[in-house]
Amino acid sequence: MGLRALIGLRLLATAMTTSVVSAETVWLADLNLSPVVQPWGRPQKNSCAARKPEDAAPLKIRGKVFARGVGTVAESILVVSLEGGAKTFSAQVGLDDAKRGSARSSVEFFVIGDGRMLWRSGVMRTGTEAKPCEVNVVGVRQLMLKVGDAEDGNNDDFADWADARFETTGAKTFRTSGEPVPAPVAPYILTPPPPASPRINGPGVFGVRPGSPFLYAIPATGERPLAYQAKGLPTGLRLDPKTGRISGVLSAKGEFIVTLRATNARGSAEKRFRIVCGDTLALTPPMGWNSWNCFAQTVSAEKIKAAADAMVSTGLADHGWSYVNIDDYWQNHLPTDEKTLQDLVRPFRDERGVIASNVRFPDMKGLADYIHARGLKAGLYSSPGPTTCGKCAGSWLHEEQDARTFAEWGFDFLKYDWCSYSSVVEGKVPTPSGVPVRKGSKDDAYASHPFKVMGGYLRAQKRDIVFSLCQYGNNDVWKWGAAVGGSSWRTTGDVNDSWRSVREIGFTQDKAAPYAKPGSWTDTDMLILGWIGWGRMRPTSLSADEQYAHVSLWCMLSSPLLIGCDMTKLDAFTLNLLANDEVLAVNQDELGRQATCALRIEEVEGKVADVRIYAKDLADGGRAVAFFNLGVEPVKLAFKEFGKLKLSGRQVARDLWRQRDVATPDTAKDALPLLLPGHGVLLYKFAAAK
Ligand code: GAL
Repeated sequence: MGLRALIGLRLLATAMTTSVVSAETVWLADLNLSPVVQPWGRPQKNSCAARKPEDAAPLKIRGKVFARGVGTVAESILVVSLEGGAKTFSAQVGLDDAKRGSARSSVEFFVIGDGRMLWRSGVMRTGTEAKPCEVNVVGVRQLMLKVGDAEDGNNDDFADWADARFETTGAKTFRTSGEPVPAPVAPYILTPPPPASPRINGPGVFGVRPGSPFLYAIPATGERPLAYQAKGLPTGLRLDPKTGRISGVLSAKGEFIVTLRATNARGSAEKRFRIVCGDTLALTPPMGWNSWNCFAQTVSAEKIKAAADAMVSTGLADHGWSYVNIDDYWQNHLPTDEKTLQDLVRPFRDERGVIASNVRFPDMKGLADYIHARGLKAGLYSSPGPTTCGKCAGSWLHEEQDARTFAEWGFDFLKYDWCSYSSVVEGKVPTPSGVPVRKGSKDDAYASHPFKVMGGYLRAQKRDIVFSLCQYGNNDVWKWGAAVGGSSWRTTGDVNDSWRSVREIGFTQDKAAPYAKPGSWTDTDMLILGWIGWGRMRPTSLSADEQYAHVSLWCMLSSPLLIGCDMTKLDAFTLNLLANDEVLAVNQDELGRQATCALRIEEVEGKVADVRIYAKDLADGGRAVAFFNLGVEPVKLAFKEFGKLKLSGRQVARDLWRQRDVATPDTAKDALPLLLPGHGVLLYKFAAAK
């Protein structure tokens, strides 16, 4: 053996000895787990996820108990800074038996090293045996341990990294951090200002019932004064040529094609407008504002009036925003110790049973009139239970009377929120016969019943009241919401201004898509931009790119668009998000399709990526396509998979935020260059090239 070989052998031996001598086991559970972000609670050391401390139990996957490990809830992310100090990561992963039997649980575990996928479990469901995970992490600096919700939300997703440990090269502990965020970007404006010449915005169709008062204000931008005309208006309707408001009553069912026209010193514009007098309201998703995300329990009539004024003065009404909706807290409140609510502690109803508005809302009819006088529509809120979510008066056992009162006051929209109705279905309050309860029920009748009751009474009014169901998606509401008279249905819990919330709500709606159509909408909750804070005002914490993604997604999903922020504090950036007519047209499209995820891209140039491409058909034969980047790093694509988006031939690709044609790719051979910001979007419309 030569000298060099000998030295080589000795070196190898030294290296081996060193590694053997210093090999250590570092248990995941012993690291600082506090940066882990999960939907609720904290990750548990050596115990399964638990809502309350007394629910903590040993980690158990399909009957097998593990002494060590971390119990978490999807989606959860922990980043461990190994800095090359570990050799292997190993674990037994699976759903914890704590939720065994829940049909709703499904997760996927991922181990990602320096942006590269090292291991993934595949989708796992309850009752599946623990899967062994053994990963070589030599040289890895940042290791991400992620549990995804398998795209169906985080219901009962109790996920265990059991026996999770690192074999290290000497280091004893590692620094940890939570979900990475994209590098900060200053708010930037994409929406071009509307031209001085007239442009008629808003939907191409409007639904009304025979005999109901008709109110539609033609939304139009352009230099004032504008003069309006409407050719082909059916008998019973008239147009105010100065305000552009169409009012009146249609006596019989029918469909009418009208040509709207707006003229100013710079020119004129026309738009085809279809009036459908029938049974269905909200033929396009309602667009407006709701008081909850900004004011919550501090709402008052003055604040509602200010919102209505701002809807007009900011010009948003000219882009089709029309509802001004009071959420909870216009009614009186149950006795409470809370000082700020003492003025609301009064009887719920008068001696005739008529619901009382509270002192902050002295004149509900006057308030609705105030809103209508601005060409806008008025909405309010109640619950089928004895109280609302905020413990104010609900409509329980007064449904017919309340429907009548709401119509008499002149309201056009009712959000009806489940909340204390749980006490009814659980049999905790005396119920008249015929009201189905949960116990012993063979079907979902107990869940749909209260909405069916109110839906029926609303329909009986001589006024069109859009019925917005709020019960968080229970019992697959999208399957029966329309049958009980709903125009839209929330499919999730409340949104908040975190990317996680927008992501968890927005990207899990494919299940409801087959049921979305004109008059029947998936409601992904209110827009979470501008100054919000549920009574304690602050700017949204979503980044600029996240807000573009948020608005784009809500438009693609054809969700009702309800602005949640203080309308008197709209800054230029927020206005730009809300006043892009080409983007809003995707939401208001007459065909009424809900976009679904047409394609996912999980790897770009060897690195883990999370690009989701949503697509939907549009009434004019075009296709709206949104390229979302859910990852933190910008993604550059040379996009060619047009077939997956059902696009063929030569297409004109238009960037809707920038309102610019950007390319005319031949889908058979060209690539479309795309640069997607982290947590951001490109929203395009494709139309066959002429
Ligand atoms: C929640 C509802 C919110 C808001 C609130 C009022 O249940 O999801 O959007 O209406 O009640 O208390």
